[in-house]
Amino acid sequence: MAEPTGRPVVDLRSDTVTKPTPPMRAAMAAADVGDDVYAEDPTVNALEAHVAELFGHEAALWAPTGSMANQIALQLLVPPAHELLCDADAHVVTYEMAAAAAYGGISTRTWPAVGADVDPETVAAMIRPDGYHAVPTRAIAVEQTHNRGGGGVVPLATLRALRGIADRAGVALHCDGARIWHAHVADGVPLKTYGELFDTLSVCLSKGLGAPAGSVIVGSAERMARARVIRKRMGGGLRQVGVLAAAGRYALDHHVERLADDHARAARLAEAIAPFGVLAGPVRTNLVPLDLSKSPLDAAGVAAAARAEGVLVSVLGPYVGRLVTHYEVDDAGIDHAIEVLTRVLRG
Ligand SMILES: Cc1ncc(COP(=O)(O)O)c(C=O)c1O
Repeated sequence: MAEPTGRPVVDLRSDTVTKPTPPMRAAMAAADVGDDVYAEDPTVNALEAHVAELFGHEAALWAPTGSMANQIALQLLVPPAHELLCDADAHVVTYEMAAAAAYGGISTRTWPAVGADVDPETVAAMIRPDGYHAVPTRAIAVEQTHNRGGGGVVPLATLRALRGIADRAGVALHCDGARIWHAHVADGVPLKTYGELFDTLSVCLSKGLGAPAGSVIVGSAERMARARVIRKRMGGGLRQVGVLAAAGRYALDHHVERLADDHARAARLAEAIAPFGVLAGPVRTNLVPLDLSKSPLDAAGVAAAARAEGVLVSVLGPYVGRLVTHYEVDDAGIDHAIEVLTRVLRG
C-alpha cells in the first residue's frame, strides 16, 4: 500500500493485515494436497501432527479461523445449557458474534476484565457445581496474549493457579492462544509448558505469523475426533486446504522467533508517545493500547489525522485506539509513525 506521494503506508491497525511473503507463497504453491474432509491432505495432516507435538498434546485439527477454532473447543468442553467462565473482554464473548450461545447453547458468565490480569480466587468463587438449581460451570477460558488487554501476557503462575482450581472443581480449561507465540517469545515459556496446562488450545497462524488463514485446535485424540465432526457441522470442512496449511507451517518455521523484533518496535513506539499520557497500559508484546480520553483528539480524530499522513491506527471505541506491529513494519516505518503520531497527539 502507498500514499499518493508514493511513500509506503505504515499500517498499524492489526497484525492480520500482513500479506504472505514470496517464500511463503512458494511453499503454498509447492504444497502436496488432498481432500481434507477425507483427512487425506498430507500437508494438513503434517501441520496438525507438528502443532500437537509443539504443545505436547495427542492431536490437533486445522480450522479456517481463530473464531471457529475457539467455538469448536468450547462446544467440546461445555454441553448445551452449561456454563463457560471468561473475562468480560475475552475475544470469545466480545468478537465471536455470540457463537457460544447461538451454536453451542452455551451460557457464558464473565469476570471483570483488568488488562490481561486474572485473579484466580475471583474465578474460583464463580464456579457453580452440578445440580438442578443453578447453571453448572463446565469450563474456564483465558486469552494468551490478551487482545483487548493490550497484548498483555498472563503469567505462568496465574495459569498454574487456574489449572489447580479447574482440577479441584472438575472443570476444563481452554486457552484462546491466538497470539500464544507472542507470550512464548515475551516470557520465554516453552509452548509445551503452556500446552500441559490446558485441556484445549486454539492457536492462530494468521496473527503476526503471516499465514493468510488458519488456526489449529489442540487437545486429546478423542476430543479432536469430535472436533472434526463439529467443524464439519459448522461448515469448516475444507478440501485441498494444504495450500493454506503450507503457509501455516512456513509461518511456524520462520516467523515465530522474529516476533521479538515486533515487540521491540512496539516498545519503542510506546516509549515515544508515552509523554502524551495516551498509553492504556504497559506494552509487553506487539500491541500498543491507547487511551485517548485526555488527548486533544478522540480515537476517530487521531486515526483520521494519522491516516492523512500515511499511518493507520485502529479505533476500538470513542477514546480507545490501538497500534499493532508486525513484519511489514520495519524500523523506518516506526520512525515515520513516531514522527506523525507525536505531531497528531500534540494537537
Ligand atoms: C485473541 C483472539 N482470539 C481469536 C481471534 C479470532 O481470529 P479470527 O479473526 O481468525 O476468527 C482473534 C482475532 O483477532 C483474537 O485476537
